[in-house]
Amino acid sequence: MARTPLLAGNWKMNMDHLEATHLVQKLAWTLGDAQHDFNRVEVAVFPPFTDIRSVQTLVDSDELKIAYGAQDVSAQDNGAFTGDISVSMLTKLGCSYVIVGHSERRQYHGETDTEVGAKAAKALAAGIVPVICCGEALEVREAGKHVEHVLGQIDAMFSGWEADAVGRVVVAYEPIWAIGTGKVATPADAQEVCGAIRARISERFGAGAAESIRVLYGGSAKPGNIKELMAQRDIDGALVGGASLKPEDFAAMAEYQKM
Ligand code: 13P
Repeated sequence: MARTPLLAGNWKMNMDHLEATHLVQKLAWTLGDAQHDFNRVEVAVFPPFTDIRSVQTLVDSDELKIAYGAQDVSAQDNGAFTGDISVSMLTKLGCSYVIVGHSERRQYHGETDTEVGAKAAKALAAGIVPVICCGEALEVREAGKHVEHVLGQIDAMFSGWEADAVGRVVVAYEPIWAIGTGKVATPADAQEVCGAIRARISERFGAGAAESIRVLYGGSAKPGNIKELMAQRDIDGALVGGASLKPEDFAAMAEYQKM
């Protein structure tokens, strides 16, 4: 079974709801001009919570094929969790995806693998595909322990999961030292870890789950390096920060097969 590549744009804390509408419109036009085939490469954007309703309205009214999702979600159903957003709120807004466990959430909000796994399970149970992030800090890589570190995160996040559920998620390998730094991992470095993730999934959950789970690379991905990254056997797409705020760049990345 072939995995459909996914180009995912994490806007982080950028763009208000008016800017979001413009950005999605420009992206849709640029992809339209390039006659982008969404069945060949899926395109998704992850705006801040406050923009999602506007993006939904635009996507619905113009019948856009661009998917969208949120950058985080609560593992709780509802209740006294000030500032949090539930899975059912995202479902109502038509989100197909949600990012969980981004390194910035782990760093600034102390999120743990257990919590991230719970968020991912909650989202998936409601029909929203989680994009589950993992990745090592620079010290870990310099110590040569990056594969071990990331596989530890994978084991902890998927602890207690069923194979069928694991096969339906997206994992994003984002080495922290490559995020927003312009220092992209070499395609071989990225493949090493993405391949190790798939092998671990196969070992723990079986070949079926390993065949269908999508593994993305993230960290300074841009038009100039996307083609080589996507040529790696175990890389099924990219989670893009900075370049996803530039519609021309992001659309060009979605067209990597024509480069
Ligand atoms: P950059 O593409 O800006 O390095 O960000 C990567 C990222 O963190 C996407 O989630």
